[in-house]
Amino acid sequence: MPAGKKTIWDTFLSPIFRFLIDEDKLRRYAQSINWEKECDRLRRHDVIIPSYYSSQNFHGIEGGYLNCIAAISYDSITEYVTPPNETWVRQTLINAVKVQPRRILDLGCGTGSTTIMLKQAFPQADVIGLDLSPYMLVRAEDKAKTAGLDITWRQGNAEKTSFPDASFDLITAALLFHETPVAVSQAILQECSRLLVTGGQVLILDGSQKSLRQLEWLNKIFEEPYIHEYAADSVDAWMGAAGFDRVSTEDVWWIHQLTSGVKPISATDRTVNVKDRQYLPAIDNNNLEGLESPVLA
Ligand SMILES: C[S@@+](CC[C@H](N)C(=O)[O-])C[C@H]1O[C@@H](n2cnc3c(N)ncnc32)[C@H](O)[C@@H]1O
Repeated sequence: MPAGKKTIWDTFLSPIFRFLIDEDKLRRYAQSINWEKECDRLRRHDVIIPSYYSSQNFHGIEGGYLNCIAAISYDSITEYVTPPNETWVRQTLINAVKVQPRRILDLGCGTGSTTIMLKQAFPQADVIGLDLSPYMLVRAEDKAKTAGLDITWRQGNAEKTSFPDASFDLITAALLFHETPVAVSQAILQECSRLLVTGGQVLILDGSQKSLRQLEWLNKIFEEPYIHEYAADSVDAWMGAAGFDRVSTEDVWWIHQLTSGVKPISATDRTVNVKDRQYLPAIDNNNLEGLESPVLA
């Protein structure tokens, strides 16, 4: 978006959302946090911010997700743009979990709304929320603390996390892929395949590609730089290309979709003596590969 050019967001939507949200409350919340200090605590020196991410405005916010305005306003806006009901939409992802997860990774976790629901649904599991934006993670951490939940928040790029192979039973991504170029979404699914144990499950919740193709005007309004290429393509096909099995996409209402896939069990995996392996719940140095498949159905 060239500098100085007013978007439909600037002229029309922003005033509407300003009216719907409690700006004073958000301002008080913003002022209660030392954002730079908190972000410094979460920033990792090995994370390189990709240019597709830092060069764009998302939802009309200058600088995209790399500022506290994005983190403060995200939940209030998302509530209105995930009809018919945000919690119900996110719950469809939780309901689709077919594994008994011991360790869960939520990619592009943002302010942690789905991550928190995952921890509530699977309290025994280690849950990690990963995002490029330390500002979003500060907000997520604060929400989890308020809910009394022990979740690990980590800055990272979903394309190239530094977790070891086969670290997770379940990987999720909610509302991430419509905000990443197709090549990046494909790279993220390759990374999911590397990170999952055999029999592990990946779940992708996002806008319905079918419906978004009919809603070109809406895509322009919301200032979503990659939504056009997202809508034109197919998460199903990307899952297949990344080697996932049992791939299926279902509509969630008519405006969202949920895609599930399972990392297939290879011939070599079948020869591993699973009884000799033990799961130890550590975060960085553990490998779940070879344990009994967590897939139930
Ligand atoms: C629309 S928000 C979705 C947040 C959250 N998952 C939800 O359902 O509300 C997209 C999030 O993905 C993050 N993101 C985008 N590209 C990423 C990447 N390559 N790695 C990690 N996070 C990424 C953004 O910082 C942002 O917080």
